[in-house]
Amino acid sequence: MMARSVSLVVLLAVVSLCAAQDADKSLTFIDPVEVASGVVSGILNKGQVPPPAPTPSSAPYDANKICDNIAFPPKFPSAPAFNLSKGVFVADNIAFQPKTTYVQQTLDYNSVLPLYNALVAYGAQQGLPLTGRGEAHITVLTPPEFSVLQPFITIDQINAIAAPLVQKARFCVLCIGRDTLPINGTLNTVFNVVVRSPDLIEVRRQIFNLYVNAGGDGSRFSYSNIFAPHITMAFRTSNPSFAATDLFVENGIYKWDNSCFAPVNLV
Ligand SMILES: *[C@@H]1O[C@H](CO)[C@@H](O)[C@H](O)[C@H]1NC(C)=O
Ligand SMILES: *[C@@H]1O[C@H](CO)[C@@H](O)[C@H](O)[C@H]1NC(C)=O
Repeated sequence: MMARSVSLVVLLAVVSLCAAQDADKSLTFIDPVEVASGVVSGILNKGQVPPPAPTPSSAPYDANKICDNIAFPPKFPSAPAFNLSKGVFVADNIAFQPKTTYVQQTLDYNSVLPLYNALVAYGAQQGLPLTGRGEAHITVLTPPEFSVLQPFITIDQINAIAAPLVQKARFCVLCIGRDTLPINGTLNTVFNVVVRSPDLIEVRRQIFNLYVNAGGDGSRFSYSNIFAPHITMAFRTSNPSFAATDLFVENGIYKWDNSCFAPVNLV
């Protein structure tokens, strides 16, 4: 009994110390009742189930920065660096926006607007009229992927997984990507910010598990190998011979490392 009280005092001291160092994160998922019962410290009461292993708080990759250790394509860079505001990384204060056929992480548009304007100016210099959608997001699950999952799991189930995780998902920025596709004699061109995010891969892994447990075939959805997270910035205003202006995986376009075109400076 004595030893247990001492453990609790030490535990509470450690918890307070962590709270002081990282006030807004450490305590949010520590339940005081669990602390008092000893579950959190590992001193289990009879019949209690151990809590799941905590998510590591330090990122196993270079979150909220320029990504490190990236092997760029051989021609990179082919344009001068563009600036991007670090405000793009602050998304956890934006409400999760549930969609009906896909999942997205909504980003702060004002943080990417100067980059959007710089890209439009760059395009104009090249005789390429560009436009955007007046918003910024990272697609976490695409509509074609959802159509594979849909016979087995609902969008509500997917959103239930995504809602608590997606807006706080961390990512790093690789480069400005440029994707081109000649269609009927006109070059469709899309500019995007290429990112990496193990946190978003984790969301997709949980969706994958739900899908497979519901009877879905794992070979039809890849949560990490076929995932090219990016922020679409600007695309050709119009193309007389092609209905769509943005380009997607369905067009054979992967907006990822392979599309790296210009470096990014975070400002
Ligand atoms: C990027 O920002 C720096 C100042 O932080 C500025 O000197 C430079 O001109 C900017 N580059 C572009 C392409 O806007
Ligand atoms: C290319 O042009 C042809 C003839 O106008 C049209 O049928 C076809 O749909 C166009 N291709 C695309 C991808 O838009």
